[in-house]
Amino acid sequence: MKHTIEMMISEQEINKTLDQLAERINAHYADSERLLMVGLLKGSVVFMADLCRRIKGHVEIDFMAVSSYGNSTTSSRDVKVLKDVQSDISGRDVLIVEDLIDSGNTLNKVREMLLLREPKSLALCTLLDKPERREVDVHVDFIGITIPDEFIVGYGIDYAEQYRNLPYIAKVVPLD
Ligand code: PRP
Ligand code: MN
Ligand code: MG
Repeated sequence: MKHTIEMMISEQEINKTLDQLAERINAHYADSERLLMVGLLKGSVVFMADLCRRIKGHVEIDFMAVSSYGNSTTSSRDVKVLKDVQSDISGRDVLIVEDLIDSGNTLNKVREMLLLREPKSLALCTLLDKPERREVDVHVDFIGITIPDEFIVGYGIDYAEQYRNLPYIAKVVPLD
């Protein structure tokens, strides 16, 4: 698709959002002994790198890769684990770190999977939320910025694997 991109959320605004998110997360986990932040590959990588450097105390990071695909028989979506976390999460405070929540399918399935392993607590954090696109209800504890239903890229988020390296978030505008 021929397209161009337009800056939508600047580096400065992203930094401010991360400062605010980190303040809330630090307050929430002030008594936690070993927080484990779990990022979902690949989109969360840039956000995770910037967010974890703002979190105080004992923090560990880990990653999971999942792919979601349609299930024709139930018209729902299934999530397949491509790479699991390396850490044993049982009894741990776990914070899932996502770049974007769209339908909610990815986070919902990952949440269900990780809950079976009996963490001490499990919370969700996303930089961006697109509530208009939600298909499944999922409670998100920490939301950075709520955005309208736009096609966005940058700061970890891709369009056909491109643009993850943009330091800001941009809108994709189709050209004819
Ligand atoms: C994107 C995004 C979220 C997910 C949100 O990931 O990074 O993880 O989709 O969509 P949902 O709420 O409808 O599940 P994608 O599957 O494109 O993989 P990527 O992170 O490797 O780009
Ligand atoms: Mn993703
Ligand atoms: Mg993607």
